[in-house]
Amino acid sequence: TDRYAVFGHPVAHSLSPRIHAEFARQLGIDIEYGMVDVAPEGFAAALADFAAAGGRGASITLPHKEAAAALCATLSPRAQRAGAANTLIRRDGAWVGDNTDGIGLVHDLTERHRIDLRGRRVLLVGAGGAARGVAPGLLDAGIAELWIVNRTPEKADALADALGEPERVHTMYWDDLAGAGAFDTIIDATSAGRGGGGLSLPFSLAAPRALAVDLSYGEAAIPFLAWAGAAGCGWRIDGLGMLIEQAAEQFLLWHGRRPDTDPVHTALGARAD
Ligand code: ATR
Repeated sequence: TDRYAVFGHPVAHSLSPRIHAEFARQLGIDIEYGMVDVAPEGFAAALADFAAAGGRGASITLPHKEAAAALCATLSPRAQRAGAANTLIRRDGAWVGDNTDGIGLVHDLTERHRIDLRGRRVLLVGAGGAARGVAPGLLDAGIAELWIVNRTPEKADALADALGEPERVHTMYWDDLAGAGAFDTIIDATSAGRGGGGLSLPFSLAAPRALAVDLSYGEAAIPFLAWAGAAGCGWRIDGLGMLIEQAAEQFLLWHGRRPDTDPVHTALGARAD
């Protein structure tokens, strides 16, 4: 049996073991998929122990995605552009890093929710590991403009630089949000909702019937999606669908087959309004 695991901190409530077990059952593949809760200072050692014990692949969740990229011998182009890895594959005694977050988000929005992303003017709020993961996928999906705003502006600038598309990618100061006009797509990639507090964003950011997406799910997505409702956004979608779709892409990288995600969406109750 091949060994896989999700690494995060915290990780106890991760749905990844359930999702991967369901995919494996569906395709008749025998895997063991565990959870490793490790703080940032212990991450490198824990990953090395896992490899020594026969680990074949790892899912990486917050706050380790950037550290994981740094520990890889090679990175896929999309992980390189993101500067973050959510998928590790053991190959020839070293880790290969990839990032399926962007394609997972795009799949969920365009194929499950039938939303056309082409030509959109997108505001990405946040510039941490989650924002880094999805930005390349959004650009590849044909959006017109990506505006990145982050409480700490240097991190927004660093992400914009890494993306390397100065015609389409711009940054903005948090204090300028009120005068920034309206966006047809607003994505919350911050961890603010996980603390329960949420962000305070001006309603003027939301164009009529805008698409609002929170990359978190469950309780953590509630404050932003409530804001989006009050701001008149037409679509409010949390990150559960993206989590399932990115896991399917990860499963494909590890096992060479992409599972049918529909039963998992149904089982986990992914929904949007
Ligand atoms: P993740 O892996 O979830 O992206 P992260 O890399 O720690 O976690 O990034 C968290 C993001 O949420 C950052 O963009 C952070 O802003 P800073 O770079 O300024 O720290 C953002 N964030 C967290 N709490 C926030 C808050 N209360 N208001 C605004 N931004 C917040």
